[in-house]
Amino acid sequence: MNDADLRSEIARLKKEKDAVILVHNYQIGPIHEIADFLGDSLGLARQAAETDKSMILFCGVRFMAETAKILSPRKTVLLPRREATCPMAEMADVETLRTVKAGHPDAKVVTYVNSTAEVKAESDVCCTSANAVDVVKHLDAETVIFTPDRNLASYVQRFTDKTIILWDGYCYVHNRFDPEEVKRAKEAYPDAVLMVHPECRPEVIDLADEVLSTGGMARVARENPAQIFLVATEEGMLYRLQKENPGKTFLSAGSSKVCRGMKATRLEDVHRALAREQYEITLPDTVIDRARLALERMLHYA
Ligand code: 13P
Ligand code: SF4
Repeated sequence: MNDADLRSEIARLKKEKDAVILVHNYQIGPIHEIADFLGDSLGLARQAAETDKSMILFCGVRFMAETAKILSPRKTVLLPRREATCPMAEMADVETLRTVKAGHPDAKVVTYVNSTAEVKAESDVCCTSANAVDVVKHLDAETVIFTPDRNLASYVQRFTDKTIILWDGYCYVHNRFDPEEVKRAKEAYPDAVLMVHPECRPEVIDLADEVLSTGGMARVARENPAQIFLVATEEGMLYRLQKENPGKTFLSAGSSKVCRGMKATRLEDVHRALAREQYEITLPDTVIDRARLALERMLHYA
């Protein structure tokens, strides 16, 4: 089938199955085009919690589809490619987290949504890149164990006097932005606005004009009258920014950085996923119930 046929078959199956298609900003262009909702982790989690459809097809990575399942446990949630995973989510495990908690009995655990369902279930509250600062500020604790992203945790530390205990996880995509390449990009485009994702290293964040989730980048690109933007995040974001702001220029702040898990999903996979109802996300009820508390607290705080 060509792309046009795939798109119309996907539309037909979506109706037949009463499905909604949620798409993360890092997906490839043809997947953006079939989205019912396109957004960042927070926006998509809200959509998953609120949808009245009976099936959610998630074009993103596994932790995002798991988050959708936790927030809407009675719905069928599909991830079109099994290998669409986020390595950072595997960097925190329940056993080590329990050990760290035992060493800090007064601390509360804030877990970035880029984590397994089991680690969420062991946490007090979740956060995304869009609300991490607010979540930590609102939390009723002076010591916070923040898993798994050390870069996001140290970014949050800039805004609070609370003690944040860092976990040694990171995103292999954002961590590759090197301050020297970002400085060179700034020198080449001195009038550009530099938008940096908070998963980048602190030395890169120091160079930023704006530190934003991918949803925040879409908003600033629209609202800021600048003509050129340098963007330090996964390259898929550039597709959306350029499409929504055709008169402006968006460039990667250094070499282009690609997330393998985010790039795994093609139109063929979405079509197959809807036709065969694969690959369904299943999680134990006990994990869902505890992880949902942490996610719902996040949605309530920020
Ligand atoms: P956003 O929530 O900002 O879209 O980030 C998700 C992510 O995986 C960043 O690497
Ligand atoms: Fe995970 Fe990084 Fe890919 Fe985001 S860009 S899904 S944090 S590996």
